[in-house]
Amino acid sequence: MTKTLLRGRILTFHARPCDASDTDAFTYIEDGALLLSDGQIIASGPHADVAGQAPEAQVIDHRPHLLMAGFIDTHIHFPQVQVVASWGAKLLDWLSDYTFPAEAEYANAQHSRAMARVFCDLLTDHGTTTAVAFCSVHKSSAEALFSEAQSRNMRMIAGKTMMDRNASPAVHDTAQSSYNDSTALIAQWHGRNRLSYAITPRFAITSTPEQLEMARTLAAEHPSCFIQTHLSENHAEIVETKRLYPQARDYLDIYESHGLLGPRTLLGHALHLEHREVEALAATGSHPVFCPTSNLFLGSGLFDDAHLRAHGIDSGIATDIGGGTSYSMLQTLNEGYKVLQLQDQTLHALQAFDWITRGNAAVLGLSDKIGTLAPGTEADIVVLDARATPAMAVRMDRAERLDEELFVLQMMGDDRAIVQTYVAGAPQKTV
Ligand code: GUN
Ligand code: ZN
Repeated sequence: MTKTLLRGRILTFHARPCDASDTDAFTYIEDGALLLSDGQIIASGPHADVAGQAPEAQVIDHRPHLLMAGFIDTHIHFPQVQVVASWGAKLLDWLSDYTFPAEAEYANAQHSRAMARVFCDLLTDHGTTTAVAFCSVHKSSAEALFSEAQSRNMRMIAGKTMMDRNASPAVHDTAQSSYNDSTALIAQWHGRNRLSYAITPRFAITSTPEQLEMARTLAAEHPSCFIQTHLSENHAEIVETKRLYPQARDYLDIYESHGLLGPRTLLGHALHLEHREVEALAATGSHPVFCPTSNLFLGSGLFDDAHLRAHGIDSGIATDIGGGTSYSMLQTLNEGYKVLQLQDQTLHALQAFDWITRGNAAVLGLSDKIGTLAPGTEADIVVLDARATPAMAVRMDRAERLDEELFVLQMMGDDRAIVQTYVAGAPQKTV
């Protein structure tokens, strides 16, 4: 088997760092190397040690750039690639005016396949190697995405959206058809190569109680699947949700009473939570997902990261394209930093980069496979250049420490800072 050796500065996390002095939480090697074989990292460490293990390896010298685990986006909408930057609306109008019409086009399998190629290219161009994606209501949209990810050997978690009311007929399924289509997709794709299925009721407004019962049945029949939905994003949404489910104690209780919470459940946004909801998230081990560019763009609210952490809740962080405005997890960290600043909270650069790699992998229960540069994990790797633009380069002339460099990437970086992205050991960018 051909081996590849990537040389450069390497950074990987073992735990969430308290601050820059918490050197136990990460490993940083100035002259480091990664040895790749058969899509996996087989050795990682100082260049002199790793190179000695495989003198025959093909060498790719990325010095002076920084090698990290590929980024993980834990909430993104595949059929919203043409919805990004749709003007002037808050959540419910934005959904009905822009999003549902765009998603209706994914009834066409050819359109779905073309957009799946664009979507996967955009992810890897921005350094993202794993995504957790909502597809449209149409089974063919999920087929297109799974098949595109499979052809690239890319780790992808996705599901057909279940939505049987309160949208437009072109994007409605029924409780029964959503069960049938999800079951067929799980049989075809879940656990195949690097693909996993996420049972995907869109949110309580667009699912009848009968459909949430079907989601419960799917989750019980397929306990290794993920579950993804939306929670408490916008005040008008919350009012409407409570009107539709008057017996629920609160928004989260709708999902809870349908057996949809647990460590494999991802809940986008989770902005306006009641105290009981926070306790229930903690008790069930469910994961809120912070989507800063979306929360600012749609004017939805400010994610209270410190409050959730204080309750021992592990949140993901994500782009939420197309409510979100950038595919870049670096730009996501930039806006995340500002959202937390507004609440007198902090997002240290080391914590930020841990979050989009190891942290998001841990939320998905996939730390043994992705999110670090540990030997035995999959070779999803990003190569970063903190001098990618003139403005970054002049700022970097005054950066002396690793955490300063990371903060420049966090605040100023985007796809231009991604020199290369490796998916299962294969370079994705033509350089
Ligand atoms: N809530 C229900 N559907 C959506 C969606 O597509 N995007 C966002 N941001 N929130 C939602
Ligand atoms: Zn979303």
